[in-house]
Amino acid sequence: MQARNYSALQTDKLKNEAYTSMAVKKKQSTEINVNDLKEGMDITAYCHFSSRYRPMDKATSDFVRHNFDHSRAIIVRYGKKQDIPIKNLKEGDDLVRLHSFPSKLKKLTHVSKPFIKELKKRGMISFQVKEYEGIADESKRDLKELIKLVEQTSEKPRKGLSIIQEKRDQKAKVANTLIRKVDECINIKNEAASTIEQSMDQLRKGKSNIAEIRHFAKLITEKDTADGMATLAGLKMTDQIYSHCVDVGAIYQITYSKIIEKQGGRSAFQNQHDAAMGALLHDLGKSKIPKEIIDSTEHYEKNSRATQILRSHPVFGAELLAKMNMPNVIIDMTHYHHIKQDTTMLSSYPTGVDFKDVRFETRLLSIVDIYQALAGKRKYKKSWSPPATMRYLDALAGIEYDLKAWDQFLHIMGVYPKGSLVVLNDDSMGFVMNVPGRGVDLERPLIAIIRNGKGENLKHHDIIDLAVEKDIKIVDDMDSQEVFGDRALDVFTSISIS
Ligand SMILES: [Fe+2]
Ligand SMILES: [Fe+2]
Repeated sequence: MQARNYSALQTDKLKNEAYTSMAVKKKQSTEINVNDLKEGMDITAYCHFSSRYRPMDKATSDFVRHNFDHSRAIIVRYGKKQDIPIKNLKEGDDLVRLHSFPSKLKKLTHVSKPFIKELKKRGMISFQVKEYEGIADESKRDLKELIKLVEQTSEKPRKGLSIIQEKRDQKAKVANTLIRKVDECINIKNEAASTIEQSMDQLRKGKSNIAEIRHFAKLITEKDTADGMATLAGLKMTDQIYSHCVDVGAIYQITYSKIIEKQGGRSAFQNQHDAAMGALLHDLGKSKIPKEIIDSTEHYEKNSRATQILRSHPVFGAELLAKMNMPNVIIDMTHYHHIKQDTTMLSSYPTGVDFKDVRFETRLLSIVDIYQALAGKRKYKKSWSPPATMRYLDALAGIEYDLKAWDQFLHIMGVYPKGSLVVLNDDSMGFVMNVPGRGVDLERPLIAIIRNGKGENLKHHDIIDLAVEKDIKIVDDMDSQEVFGDRALDVFTSISIS
């Protein structure tokens, strides 16, 4: 009874705050042309589009559906006007309005000069904008949600402290298990990388022996080490091609197996560990390339002889694997992992391949390959932390990479992959420990706090679940290598949530 009264009071208080906030902060909403957009404005709806959106062809509807994920669209379909979730948008629809954008789509709602240019290029003509910074609509929506939450809580029996403690313990267990897995993987990863190096050295001498690589493919698949290895990939720089192959093997194994599990579909691989095997072997063709080129950290010019030689590794690899009688799907993964959706791009090779002929398994591999290549080599491109890499790839999805494979990869890896270092709105800092489950905003993972808001390193680490703590959010992400240098992995593995 006490709890009900308290919650009712809280509800009234929040409602009052909402109304006061709306009354005090007047908002003007107005429709303007793309030429009148100004930096700093916030778009609340896209209102008018060029003829290419009336009706939309497949590429245009795919583009809108992907980029405005979780928004709504007003369309005309078979002469009837409808307000639909963006995921239901189809080829042939006339686009009338885009609205109800989630907060994560800030890049498509907050106006900047380059963004105006992009909007013009894309045929977006007029917009409804909020002229004043910030406030009323979003706070109204947030407060409405908060009020709803408090009202719901007041109707439920209050949960005992023991249940709250139990939930906290479960979250601490998730974090501690991941940290332990990462720690256990360090040696396995080093061993796997040196095994791949030895096998490639043997191939260079004309001896083929990949039995040891198969041993690691089985280990990654059966011993549940892929999750730890995938997290490790974002915490430690990987300059060598051999470590790159191990990381790609682990990340591919975990993403492919989860896609199959989620879809309830059938794996294209005969043996369970063949997915990891195919990914571990994807750059095997580099064994036919002089070692000084492969091991070099020099950046070769696009038209240099070394680049030309390097571009032949998918064909060399496919030939080697065919001689070893490997399954076709594994041969294709090696052969086509550098094919871009836009095959006319210079970075797409070998040439003369139609993207329609590239299997889903290979399309996914090409995403994993570039994710690891960027997130694992931050020595040269400092800004490529895992979240920055995800944002970069998101912008290229549908142009360089297959949208369907990208969407699935994104939902498994998260906007903030496990091991990402993030800053919260109370200035505290922590590592991401999970990927939010189905139905939870990907921007609200579980965080192990390692530094408080005053910048002090914590001796006793805490855990915070952003899916529950709605007033706390991620405001920035950092490159753990830039913050902690070579100690980044040690800092992560030293976390202990009690
Ligand atoms: Fe490659
Ligand atoms: Fe690669």
